[in-house]
Amino acid sequence: MGTITVETEKELKDALEEVRNTGVLYMVLGGGSNVLLTKDYPGIVILNRIKGIKLVEDAQEFVVVEAGSGEIWHHLVMYCVDHGFGGIENLSLIPGRVGAAPIQNIGAYGVELKDVFESLTAINTDTLERKTFQKKDCEFGYRDSVFKRNLKNRYIITSVRLKLKRSPETNISYGAIAAVLKEKNIIDPGIKDVSEAVIDIRSSKLPDPAVLGNSGSFFKNPVIKREVYQKLHNRYPQLPCYNVDDNFVKVPAGWMIEQCGLKGKRFGETGCHKDQALVIVNYGNATGKEIHEHALRVIDLVNKKFGIQLEPEVNII
Ligand code: EPU
Repeated sequence: MGTITVETEKELKDALEEVRNTGVLYMVLGGGSNVLLTKDYPGIVILNRIKGIKLVEDAQEFVVVEAGSGEIWHHLVMYCVDHGFGGIENLSLIPGRVGAAPIQNIGAYGVELKDVFESLTAINTDTLERKTFQKKDCEFGYRDSVFKRNLKNRYIITSVRLKLKRSPETNISYGAIAAVLKEKNIIDPGIKDVSEAVIDIRSSKLPDPAVLGNSGSFFKNPVIKREVYQKLHNRYPQLPCYNVDDNFVKVPAGWMIEQCGLKGKRFGETGCHKDQALVIVNYGNATGKEIHEHALRVIDLVNKKFGIQLEPEVNII
């Protein structure tokens, strides 16, 4: 039906007021990189382009950086890396815009947004009032927050604040990062080294959405009870797992999808990527419906083989 591009909080409020007054269906889109449209959207798309990156606190040990929710996430990462602000270098090259980062609690290579999150501001879609959310208000979980649950569609995020370190401390706990650094003979890595290692890993494994359509990991890695894992492990001794807490572990969906013979296998114009089975790709002309059907096929096959129900990570509309 149409698109309204908003570049300021005021323009966002005006757009929300307009759609509210006319009662038309609407959605707010950032980069759209984690959205699968299964049909043409029958309403108005409000395109968030609220930009700006600034330092709001500058202490000896840390800084607080504020970014507009319509900024490209990776641009914010590069700004921080270039200024020596540490904490989000492991989240380099994640597609999407800043506003989506807290909704999803984006994470990669041992770091999640919640580790550096300070606060955010958002507009209430009913009252159009601005509210500040502190970390505890966001109820962050694995690829999850209150904005995906109780407050779904109730707030539009306009800015995000991150608390970042000035110290050269880095997190290279994730095996693949350590391997890349070793290969490059980097013993005492700085923020930029880690960012470059992450960019290398992502570029080698994950398809660039600008070249081959995809939304990153299509499914979440399932969190299962230890007893369930033990039984599966007896049958599949190679099945990896990551500790969550005393009772639960996380298992990689990509591994299970590969075991189902789906990695790199093409179904018409779609299929699971050849290097990372958790990523569903569009070879060019797949419709949203075809991609959705493939996702359902993956869910079904994994369920039949492992008795585990995969949950999409992507927003299906
Ligand atoms: N694996 C396979 N086959 C595959 C894919 C993975 O056997 O086709 C195995 C790997 O060998 C490894 C394990 O599964 O033992 C985990 O794989 P990987 O390290 O590639 O990470 P992932 O669990 O598949 C998650 C995130 C990614 C993030 C990476 C790195 C989720 C849903 N995905 O993927 O996030 O980049 O870890 O931290 O948690 C995203 O959310 O869009 C995303 C790309």
